[in-house]
Amino acid sequence: MMHKITIIGCGNMGLIYANSFLKYRIVNSDNLLLVEKNAERQVKLQAMNIGRVVTTTDQSIAGSDILILSVKPQDFIELAPGIKPHLKPSTIVLSIMAGIEISAIAKLLGHENIVRAMPNSPVEIGMGMTVFTASPSLTREDLLKVDNMLATTGRTLYVEKEQLLNAVTALSGSGPAYFFYFMQHLVKAGMEMGLDEHISSTLAKQTMLGAFHLINNASKPLDELIKAVASKGGTTEAALHTFQEQHMGETIVQALLNAEKRAGELSLKL
Ligand SMILES: NC(=O)c1ccc[n+]([C@@H]2O[C@H](COP(=O)([O-])OP(=O)(O)OC[C@H]3O[C@@H](n4cnc5c(N)ncnc54)[C@H](OP(=O)(O)O)[C@@H]3O)[C@@H](O)[C@H]2O)c1
Repeated sequence: MMHKITIIGCGNMGLIYANSFLKYRIVNSDNLLLVEKNAERQVKLQAMNIGRVVTTTDQSIAGSDILILSVKPQDFIELAPGIKPHLKPSTIVLSIMAGIEISAIAKLLGHENIVRAMPNSPVEIGMGMTVFTASPSLTREDLLKVDNMLATTGRTLYVEKEQLLNAVTALSGSGPAYFFYFMQHLVKAGMEMGLDEHISSTLAKQTMLGAFHLINNASKPLDELIKAVASKGGTTEAALHTFQEQHMGETIVQALLNAEKRAGELSLKL
């Protein structure tokens, strides 16, 4: 039997999930309910004809087997009382809201079965990395069900300790921006050396892609991969020497630790 899925907050992420579930036949449009309060967005969703669109969390959400919370974290507190009376105990609540702890969701919804997931932006193209954790009440079958759903947007990993989601946020959650930043400076350097922007950008992108596949397929550790490119006294070594002189490695580690700390500071614990 097909599950009834409700997505509350059908902005960027909510819509990505709706489309990914439909694409992989996790749900059909008859069993998909989209709750969206933004009038402009509602019109867009109606026109897409991907599920039933409603404006508020009323009786219509009552039959949901899986209910996804994809509103902005700050909107959740106001939203929770409208969801609470309509949940059946077996409903799995899947939150992708950054920084709202399972205990806070459980308390605000008076509900036990909660999964908290941290996706990243490449979910948009099915290349995401999503890490999830769950309240102890979830069965193995529930966890596999959720995993199958999240995996429609890319890779998934389960972690037992919820606290680790702050590190996950700092690494895979924010990670795409770090690579864009690095890429931006590779392109800039290429242009400073006289390459046209399109050439510089193609070189940077293809190099990143090739390097990724080498990492993914090589059995060698990273420092050996680095050594294999950097011959003694050569060009790569000159660049790496500058990275070391400027403490770039330590800076990267410190940046992620700061992101992790910030994720902790922003967490809503109740
Ligand atoms: N974007 C990412 O890469 C990413 C990664 C990891 C986690 N997340 C999490 O994903 C969540 C959604 O992010 P997003 O980028 O998709 O945000 P978004 O585009 O702003 O989508 C949220 C949607 O929910 C609507 N909404 C707000 N309150 C509502 C309510 N009470 N009932 C129904 N709909 C409501 C919003 O309408 P209005 O515009 O009118 O407020 C908006 O259309 C956030 O909690 C974020 O932390 C995002």
